[in-house]
Amino acid sequence: MSGHGHELTDEEAAAMFEPAGWEERYSGEETVWSGNPNPQLVAEISGLAPGTALDVGCGEGGDVIWLARQGWKVTGADFSANGLARAARHAEQAGVRDRTDWWQVDARAFAAGGRSYDLVTTHFLHPPDGGMVEVTGRLSEAVAPGGHLLVVGHAPSEVFTHLSASHRRAMFRAEELLPGLPGDFDVLVVEQRPRTVVRDGVSVDVHDSTLLARRRAD
Ligand SMILES: C[S@@+](CC[C@H](N)C(=O)[O-])C[C@H]1O[C@@H](n2cnc3c(N)ncnc32)[C@H](O)[C@@H]1O
Repeated sequence: MSGHGHELTDEEAAAMFEPAGWEERYSGEETVWSGNPNPQLVAEISGLAPGTALDVGCGEGGDVIWLARQGWKVTGADFSANGLARAARHAEQAGVRDRTDWWQVDARAFAAGGRSYDLVTTHFLHPPDGGMVEVTGRLSEAVAPGGHLLVVGHAPSEVFTHLSASHRRAMFRAEELLPGLPGDFDVLVVEQRPRTVVRDGVSVDVHDSTLLARRRAD
C-alpha cells in the first residue's frame, strides 16, 4: 500500500499524512480518488431533508458534489490547499459551484466559531497516531440543534498489519469515538460496516467504522 518497499518508520508515515504529504499527493495530473460518494454517506444521508452541510477532509470533493446534487448547501473543508482547489474545479465541472464553498482548516484545531450546519460529515480522515476522539468533539460543536454528525473511517484490521505503527494507531472503531461526543447527542449508528474494495486488482474485505449521531433539538 505504501509503495516504499519497506515498512515505513513512524516519522515517514506521519509525514505522508501531514499537510505537505497531502499537498504533494494532490499536485500531480491524476486524480487520487474516484469522485464517487462514500457508501456510508449515501446509506445514511439519502433519507434526510437537505440543509447545510460541512464535509471535513473533503479531498477532491466527491462527497461535497454528491451532497450538493441532493440539494444540500455544502462547505468542503480540508487542510490541503491543492485538494480544495481540485474540489472546487470538480464542483464547477459538475455544475454545483453555486451550492458549494471551501474552508482551509486543520481538523485537529477546528473551532466552529459560531458556524453551524445541519450535517457535519468526515470520511477517512486519519491523523497520524490518532486523535479522532478529539476531532469528533470539535466537529460536534458545529452541528446545529436537530442536525447530524457522521464520522467514518478505517477500522483496525489484519489488512493493515503491514503499515507502520503510527498508521495503525490512526485507525479506530466507531465506539472509541463516543467519549468525544457531547451529552446532547443521541447515537443512531455505531458499528463497523463490511465493504469489499479492489486494491491492485485484488478484492480485500475492509470495515468502515461508522458513527452517526443527532444533536437533540432542545
Ligand atoms: C483519505 S483522504 C479522504 C478524502 C475524502 N474524504 C474521501 O473519502 O474521498 C483524507 C483527506 O483528509 C485530509 N486531511 C487529513 N488530515 C486532515 C486534518 N487534520 N485536517 C483537515 N484535513 C485533513 C487530507 O488532505 C485528505 O484530503
